[in-house]
Amino acid sequence: MFNDPHLRPLPGAHATHAAIAPTVPALRVGLIGLGTVGTGVWQVLRRNQALIAARAGRHIEIVAVAVRKLPRAAKLLGDAPGVRLTDDPLQVATHPGVDVVLELAGGTGPAREWVLAALAQGKHVVTANKALLAVHGTALFAAAAQHGVALAYEGAVAGSVPVIKALREGLAANRIDAVAGIINGTSNFILTRMRDAGVDFASALAEAQALGYAEADPAFDVDGVDAAHKLALLAANAFGTPVRFDAVHVEGIRALQALDVAAVAQLGYAIKLLGIAQRARRQPAGVELRVHPTLLPAHQLLAQVDGAMNGVLVHGDAAGPALYCGAGAGGEQTASAVIADLVDVARLPVHGGTAQQRVPALGVHAAACADLPVLPMAEVVTPHYLRLQPRADVPEADVTRALAQLLHDEGVQAERLDWYTDGSQPAAARHLLLLTQPVADAVAARVADHLQHWAQGGVVRLRVAGPEACM
Ligand SMILES: NC(=O)c1ccc[n+]([C@@H]2O[C@H](COP(=O)([O-])OP(=O)(O)OC[C@H]3O[C@@H](n4cnc5c(N)ncnc54)[C@H](OP(=O)(O)O)[C@@H]3O)[C@@H](O)[C@H]2O)c1
Repeated sequence: MFNDPHLRPLPGAHATHAAIAPTVPALRVGLIGLGTVGTGVWQVLRRNQALIAARAGRHIEIVAVAVRKLPRAAKLLGDAPGVRLTDDPLQVATHPGVDVVLELAGGTGPAREWVLAALAQGKHVVTANKALLAVHGTALFAAAAQHGVALAYEGAVAGSVPVIKALREGLAANRIDAVAGIINGTSNFILTRMRDAGVDFASALAEAQALGYAEADPAFDVDGVDAAHKLALLAANAFGTPVRFDAVHVEGIRALQALDVAAVAQLGYAIKLLGIAQRARRQPAGVELRVHPTLLPAHQLLAQVDGAMNGVLVHGDAAGPALYCGAGAGGEQTASAVIADLVDVARLPVHGGTAQQRVPALGVHAAACADLPVLPMAEVVTPHYLRLQPRADVPEADVTRALAQLLHDEGVQAERLDWYTDGSQPAAARHLLLLTQPVADAVAARVADHLQHWAQGGVVRLRVAGPEACM
């Protein structure tokens, strides 16, 4: 079925655009995966074919597709008989008639082999697979550099939002000091529903699943892993370091209570799952890499990125803060970023028969890429939010006195102390809310531990955003 060594678009497959000389060869794409994103790419490429060709200077044609379930894909591709269909991705990855391999299958196992095989054959690779690049990025980017080809991944980080291009090209003059992003649409949708509808995590998750914003197994999204994959890629581009997914501190939103979402609103905050990469304030050579629920002043722009949207705030020393915002997922939305990568490949200058990759995959050339120490989370300094419901057998005044003594002993400054009345219970319960000045994570954890003695139920501790998330 798949042994034609001369894959090329069907004659007349693309309506001739006046700007494209018929002698300019089309860029031949081998697509692995025709699911949500693959189908989006297929549709957008067909719909905007002439426009994209005019921008790329060549036609971009999908000439081969690999999937598992052939009949479904055959139906989808039905009116394009020139496209070869197979259930063997390796054939697509290594076929001599393919110039660019588009990996849209996902996962970190076989996808790694397909990508390595394609790169070894001198083929450019475009992928939206953040898990693959976060886990195996070092080897894959090295292979791409060794073979002088592109390994492009705009669709992997923030869906439609071209933030990799912004970091790598638009902000190339800047020393990047910090990146703070809402980079998981599922979590952001859930947090938005918890705030707006006052529902708990489980109900908001069920709603996200019913609407197709969350997978049946939502673990990667709600446990912060997906955001950590993306943060590792953003940080590498921001700081010129290797991809350090292993060093990212990761906490998700599963344990978040509706009570805290409501209580922080009283203080003027919203809770967002933020991925934060920033140069450590107290250790100039190091960086912080962390994903966790974060209190953001509600009037800040990033706090207003709601629903399934993504937003990435980048602080450059020359540009200042800039917010990049848009759809973080979806078939055509992600296809927008994926096809932009294909256009970049189509535009590469060709020397001696080989298209020369010019923009380094991680923003700096390999020789300049340098690892930086990652600050342990215990040493990361942020303001904190603590909440506790005082024990019924202890007067509130005793609890506040004990808290004041504890803060004094630990050298922690209180920024604000408040009471929140939880009216959702039959007997309204009062909760003590504390916002601290910036304090090391280990110290805040110790304070929360000691406060346990005075609390019924747990003591909730959340971090508050610093200037890195504000503009
Ligand atoms: N969905 C989004 O909004 C989004 C956004 C940004 C990035 N991404 C990333 O884009 C990638 C694709 O996501 P998706 O949502 O499009 O996934 P999806 O809907 O599950 O589609 C995956 C496709 O890959 C094919 N596939 C999987 N394993 C295969 C194998 N071993 N051999 C052949 N074909 C195989 C599947 O074939 P069958 O259908 O025949 O099983 C399916 O066509 C992932 O890395 C994801 O993280 C997705």
